[in-house]
Amino acid sequence: MAKATMYFPPDFKWGAATAAHQVEGNNTNNDWWAWEQTPGHISRDQKSGLAADWWGDGFERDLDFAAQMGHTAHRLSIEWARIEPQEGVWDTAAIDRYRYMLSAMRRRGIEPMVTLHHFSNPLWVAERDAWETTAIVPWFERYVSKAVDSLKDLCDLWVTINEPNVYAVAGYVPDQAETVDHDAPSALFPPGKNSLNLAFTVVANMLRGHAAAYRGIHQLQPTARVGVAQNMRVFDPARPDNVLDRFCAFNRDRLFNHTLLNALLTGRYDRPFGVPQWIRGLKGALDFIGLNYYTRELVKFDRSRPTTIMFGRSVLDPNTPMSDGNYGELYPLGLFRMLKRLERTGKPIFITENGLPDADDDQRPAFLLTHLREVWRAINQNIPIMGYYHWSLVDNFEWAEAWNLRFGLIKLNVETQERRLRRSGELYGEICRRGVIDDGLVYEYAPALLDTLFPG
Ligand code: BGC
Repeated sequence: MAKATMYFPPDFKWGAATAAHQVEGNNTNNDWWAWEQTPGHISRDQKSGLAADWWGDGFERDLDFAAQMGHTAHRLSIEWARIEPQEGVWDTAAIDRYRYMLSAMRRRGIEPMVTLHHFSNPLWVAERDAWETTAIVPWFERYVSKAVDSLKDLCDLWVTINEPNVYAVAGYVPDQAETVDHDAPSALFPPGKNSLNLAFTVVANMLRGHAAAYRGIHQLQPTARVGVAQNMRVFDPARPDNVLDRFCAFNRDRLFNHTLLNALLTGRYDRPFGVPQWIRGLKGALDFIGLNYYTRELVKFDRSRPTTIMFGRSVLDPNTPMSDGNYGELYPLGLFRMLKRLERTGKPIFITENGLPDADDDQRPAFLLTHLREVWRAINQNIPIMGYYHWSLVDNFEWAEAWNLRFGLIKLNVETQERRLRRSGELYGEICRRGVIDDGLVYEYAPALLDTLFPG
């Protein structure tokens, strides 16, 4: 083991990420709240309820922890359903509340990155089929313009849409929705449909929405930086020498990672099983890429699954380390592989999400150290990585898994709203404040990793 230090650039942004519906509480006017009310949709029929009470004072309390950890950035989302509760009706109190939240961040030296759409839709939008038709594009553009115009003195870093691929897969493809090894009876997210064709339409419309929003934001704020948060997974063949497994892994990668990214860069959406579509205004409508990286899937050929996932089935390797609830393999190298891949786009990169569910916090310290080592390696290869937002600042409502998966640097007791900084939060705080990872820190928080992180 060597004595050594990994240095991060002095202007590197350190922070965490959250999403409105997952932390605010009482978001009663969106499709997720409605979805939660039907038994069977959410694990153990739990509900978002008060969530982390960010619409109340939970927000300030978590932000105090973020400041204490030395965060210089935070990615949050704002809720369309609050800002425009009915079509064309603006809730100025909600807008003021978001202004207050962004100011509170700035007061603590934390730069906000605002996501304008993170999975949830206003009820009035959901009732009109949300992203299934192009009708949504002007609605979304109008809401984005209103929001940006109201907040632009406090923020210039925008994510238009979070993870179009996950939104489409989780809402429209039952077999594959956000899971690695079980068949879900219906798609896990609203609207809970089963149509691969609609999933592709939804992605196309989200690309249209992004292009319109990008244009609208730049008109209002020429200095804005606007991107998309793209969930990227590594798909490797379960049996590396098996041609069919390799073919399936390649297909999954194209469908999930490549098609969307390529469309964002070229303006051409190579709709699977369809004709390519040119999306007006999309080419060049990207100032940065947000990378959400969690895990790798091992893909095996399965002849019983011809349609939904094109003969590919994700399998668990019993020998690989998994996070809670078999959420996914812990695979730090995947972060480096994805960053290398994004390098080719020539765009600045923010790691807009990276994390794991780990209620007892026995894996998160090592997760942080091993993943940040990959970020450091990539920075040293001159890949333009601007910042890292850990998912998540605080335990929050994990969609269909509700309160069963805990992603927070801050542990939350949902009933009492008590919080406590986890040990991993202390570790992350040391890294954020000092901008380095050295052998002393590793010795203190994850000594078993010393030889891996600092080979002699
Ligand atoms: C989503 C988050 C979610 C996280 C963990 C991401 O795909 O953007 O909302 O909580 O994954 O599952």
